[in-house]
Amino acid sequence: MIKNYVQSPLPFQGQKRTFLKLFREGLKEFDKSTIFVDLFGGSGLLSHSIKQVRPDARVIYNDYDNFSERLRNVDKTNALLSDIRAILGDNERKALIKEPVRGKIIERIKQADDEGFVDYVTLSASLLFSGKYATNLKEMTKDTFYNRIKLNDYCVDGYLDEVEVVHYDYKVLFSIYRHFPGVVFLIDPPYLSTDCSSYKNYWKLKDYLDVLLLLKDTSYFYFTSNKSSIVELCDWLEHNLNAPSPFFGATKREVVNGVNKDARYTDIMMYKSN
Ligand SMILES: C[S@@+](CC[C@H](N)C(=O)[O-])C[C@H]1O[C@@H](n2cnc3c(N)ncnc32)[C@H](O)[C@@H]1O
Repeated sequence: MIKNYVQSPLPFQGQKRTFLKLFREGLKEFDKSTIFVDLFGGSGLLSHSIKQVRPDARVIYNDYDNFSERLRNVDKTNALLSDIRAILGDNERKALIKEPVRGKIIERIKQADDEGFVDYVTLSASLLFSGKYATNLKEMTKDTFYNRIKLNDYCVDGYLDEVEVVHYDYKVLFSIYRHFPGVVFLIDPPYLSTDCSSYKNYWKLKDYLDVLLLLKDTSYFYFTSNKSSIVELCDWLEHNLNAPSPFFGATKREVVNGVNKDARYTDIMMYKSN
């Protein structure tokens, strides 16, 4: 039995943690499906969850951001964080990290960087203001540090066991599996109007609309948010210009997220078995 993770074992922006319950429920409608292709795998949390519910199915996780490299190097990350904890001593949690402690931490990060691997996403989640991400040493050193470091080690044991890991642009991967019988695509692209600073590249409206082409005549789970208004746009085109909505016949599920009422937004999951 694979260990059950209810969130990504390493920090990851945009992971589908809050959707897991509804996602697992939705999966019941795909009990005849044999292959699940996670086109925008991110942290792999959806791929991991499918294996829990459907150990018999093939699950292909598209690791575009090389998240699995972060998993493989978790021992280095734990060692680095442990040394930073020691440097911090009794520095108050959540509080600003001042000099000379900050300088000593930077020195230790530089040493790790020279040795060849630093997980800057996890490091950002440990030392930068909530939601801020640096991708290299230079960016990291420009920022203010806070003590947000987790008190214990990260554990990633067994997380991607039995999942097939690939690294493709989603269009290439889609074209490989498009005609496989019993295939279901998991489509969770970067959201329009959200901060994707920890992802590899920036998405424009056209890129976002191109993804809708994958919904034609396929079985899918598609994720979006009310902030990107894509479902609203498709409804508008259907009602006013008779353009068939790619979501016709799909089931819609929603989760309200956000820390307070001003920052609240709704995540949307649409799914359809073809
Ligand atoms: C919203 S996240 C997916 C989150 C994932 N479902 C999870 O639970 O962790 C979108 C992902 O798509 C990736 N991505 C961006 N462009 C891509 C492309 N052309 N092909 C495949 N993945 C891409 C981003 O780097 C990011 O990891």
